Amino acid sequence: MNSLVSPSAEHAAEQAAALIAKAVSARPGLVLGLATGETMRPVYAALVRDHHSNGTCWQRVTVFNLDDYVGLPAAHPASFRRFMRETLFDHIDIFPGRCRMPDGLADDLAREARDYEAKIAAAGGIDLQLLGIGGNGHIAFNEPGSDFAGRTGVVALAPTTLAAARASFERADEVPLRGLTMGIGTILEARRILLVATGAGKARAVAGAFGGTADPACPASALQAHPDVTLLLDPAAAAALWG
Ligand code: GLP
Repeated sequence: MNSLVSPSAEHAAEQAAALIAKAVSARPGLVLGLATGETMRPVYAALVRDHHSNGTCWQRVTVFNLDDYVGLPAAHPASFRRFMRETLFDHIDIFPGRCRMPDGLADDLAREARDYEAKIAAAGGIDLQLLGIGGNGHIAFNEPGSDFAGRTGVVALAPTTLAAARASFERADEVPLRGLTMGIGTILEARRILLVATGAGKARAVAGAFGGTADPACPASALQAHPDVTLLLDPAAAAALWG
């Protein structure tokens, strides 16, 4: 594992974007796994700036997003589809048909999960997967206790995840209780993984994931078994790692 501590959260985001832009330039048909969350806003803003100033071309890139809420309309302000459009897709030259996301509104969610896995496989697998981390160590929506070999499917969101999501919803009873997410096994099949964590709220999760032995109590610790992981941290998120 390659870990880099940037002087600031802004710098960590710039580094993540530079790494992604380089991968897109090196392989125009890149299959890219993307994540949502506040951590990713500055990463995507930097990618948009890169597209405008350096002309990085996204026309042949295919994106598979990690997850979405179950039952939330795409137009809802908290939907991950909307997040991706507003922060990235609407501002670069990617084809909308190449922006995939598991459909949390599907009638048959088990079938949607199988189809999503099949689409990833048909695209040749994910070349580079961008990840954030939840305060409880979750990756995508794989909460503590998740199977390290798990595949895409429906999961119940942990109380801390629901509490963190609350800020994006007007009313508490609007927050979906379930997510449709790539499994940890699906994520581990990506050829390269880039995890970005910033802020003191992630320090415990980062230390739990990378500072000791792998344990399903901290889902991100599954990444220890992956041969090509880059960790991009700011000092606050790295604080408990080597302490
Ligand atoms: C959500 C997403 C994760 C993301 C996490 C952290 O739960 N499903 O993919 O990593 O939030 O989000 P934030 O960056 O807002 O802390």
